[in-house]
Amino acid sequence: MNARDDDKSVINLPPRDPEARERAMPAGDEAKNAPGHSIALMSETGTLVPRQLEERRLIHREESVRTQSDAFREIRTRLLWLGGERNFVTMVVPVSPKSGGSFVARNLALAFAFDEAKTSLLIDCNLRYPAQQEALGMARGTEGLINFLEQPSIGIKSIIYETGIPRLRLIPAGSTRENSGEYFSSFRMRAVVDSLRCRYPDRYLFLDGPAIKGSPDARILSELADQVVVVAGYGRDTPAAISQAVASFDTNKVAGVVFNHAP
Ligand SMILES: Nc1ncnc2c1ncn2[C@@H]1O[C@H](COP(=O)(O)OP(=O)(O)O)[C@@H](O)[C@H]1O
Ligand SMILES: [Mg+2]
Repeated sequence: MNARDDDKSVINLPPRDPEARERAMPAGDEAKNAPGHSIALMSETGTLVPRQLEERRLIHREESVRTQSDAFREIRTRLLWLGGERNFVTMVVPVSPKSGGSFVARNLALAFAFDEAKTSLLIDCNLRYPAQQEALGMARGTEGLINFLEQPSIGIKSIIYETGIPRLRLIPAGSTRENSGEYFSSFRMRAVVDSLRCRYPDRYLFLDGPAIKGSPDARILSELADQVVVVAGYGRDTPAAISQAVASFDTNKVAGVVFNHAP
């Protein structure tokens, strides 16, 4: 794939506006503006206000983070265009650690949840260095994917958590494990992803995966995804490293490269 600026498969994610937090609405106002209802079978408790969302490095609907939320909406539009009618599974992976893969996965899932007709389920599949549990303000030691894969009797529902964001749910990684490839290639993992996708036709799944560089795990995980979004750290990952990373996936699955200006 050509990583050119005029290429529709390349999206530049602008840096955060440092003043944004100050301009964010004060706590309390969001509750009035929050969508009045959520879709069937979802009860929402304790919805976060914009200030809290910004502390968690999450986009929202207010003007203060407009440039970033527009960039995520643009990625959403592209994925929906590529994905067609059916709900799909998107894997988001960084070229190298700290390029912003988890940041993009989280915000992309949120951009889908902006749409009241859709729900998002973010699954932290970085079993070595999980990020979403902490980022979304959940307690350490929360049970997640690994716990379910190792002990299915706990039930899938017990590892799907509310996030404080309407229509966005999280499955944290749970206990950390070194050998994620073995889990990703297991029959059970495929069954989990398939059943989570098929159960609700309006549910979009986002797999936050491990870095591509230096490990086959991201490629193994991509077998479970319909689309792959590669996140390159702007000024961090070289063009050669990005091309090599993209080449490790089935070309039909690669939705594009996001250039992230990580701090
Ligand atoms: N565009 C961005 N704006 C603000 N913070 C960011 C951005 N990209 C990454 N970060 C932050 O940088 C850190 C590393 O990003 P992360 O998404 O965890 O990287 P990766 O998953 O690629 O290892 C996190 O604290 C994340 O919130
Ligand atoms: Mg990550």
